[in-house]
Amino acid sequence: MSGYLIRPAVLDDALEIAEIHYLGWKSAYAGVVSDAQIAAKQPEKRLDYWKHKMQDGQNLVLVGQQEPDGPILGFIYGGPVLDHEITREIPGQPKLKDFDCEINIVHCRHAAQGKGLGRALMAEIAHHWQVGGKRAPMLWAFRDNDYRKLYDKLGGTVFAEGVDEGAPDVAYGWQDLDALIAACQPAQRG
Ligand SMILES: CC(C)(COP(=O)(O)OP(=O)(O)OC[C@H]1O[C@@H](n2cnc3c(N)ncnc32)[C@H](O)[C@@H]1OP(=O)(O)O)[C@@H](O)C(=O)NCCC(=O)NCCS
Repeated sequence: MSGYLIRPAVLDDALEIAEIHYLGWKSAYAGVVSDAQIAAKQPEKRLDYWKHKMQDGQNLVLVGQQEPDGPILGFIYGGPVLDHEITREIPGQPKLKDFDCEINIVHCRHAAQGKGLGRALMAEIAHHWQVGGKRAPMLWAFRDNDYRKLYDKLGGTVFAEGVDEGAPDVAYGWQDLDALIAACQPAQRG
């Protein structure tokens, strides 16, 4: 048990989600992408984007809170595997076509990081997909972003390299959703 309340996002969550996303880009991706690319994520510019993602039926946006009336501390958004510019496939590893669901974005507020929310959000989206008949999840992460260590820790395998928004990125995949859910269980401490 993570102790977090994870639920599907509703339209009223759009501003908080957009804020967390923007703050995440500012703190995690400065130096990886340009200032203009970060500015493009300013919350007021992205409300329609997030409302659309919640409503289009193909995607899943989940938010994490500590209590029902509390602030949103983090979110995850995923859906079908999207086209992506691939620069190299890693020999002996699966191909993009071998995966059937993609985690597009996962961000937690700075003060909430390192306390298991990322794991809880990843586990919950994997569970939703499992119930919906999906099999193998993947995601792209900026190559030069320290936070991608999360996916190493959760047992993801790098199977391709690519480019997103002009910056190099890498694709992580999991053989099946069970493997991801098992890896997301809270680490034993002490
Ligand atoms: C990446 C992110 C979503 C992870 O969420 P989180 O709640 O901080 O992660 P958790 O507490 O669940 O940690 C899961 C594991 O990943 C590891 N991890 C997470 N971020 C890490 C980092 N920057 N460096 C090294 N390890 C990291 C943790 O060590 C942890 O393992 P542990 O529980 O055995 O210690 C969050 O830190 C975040 O929003 N980062 C900024 C935005 C971003 O870059 N998002 C996309 C990631 S490519």
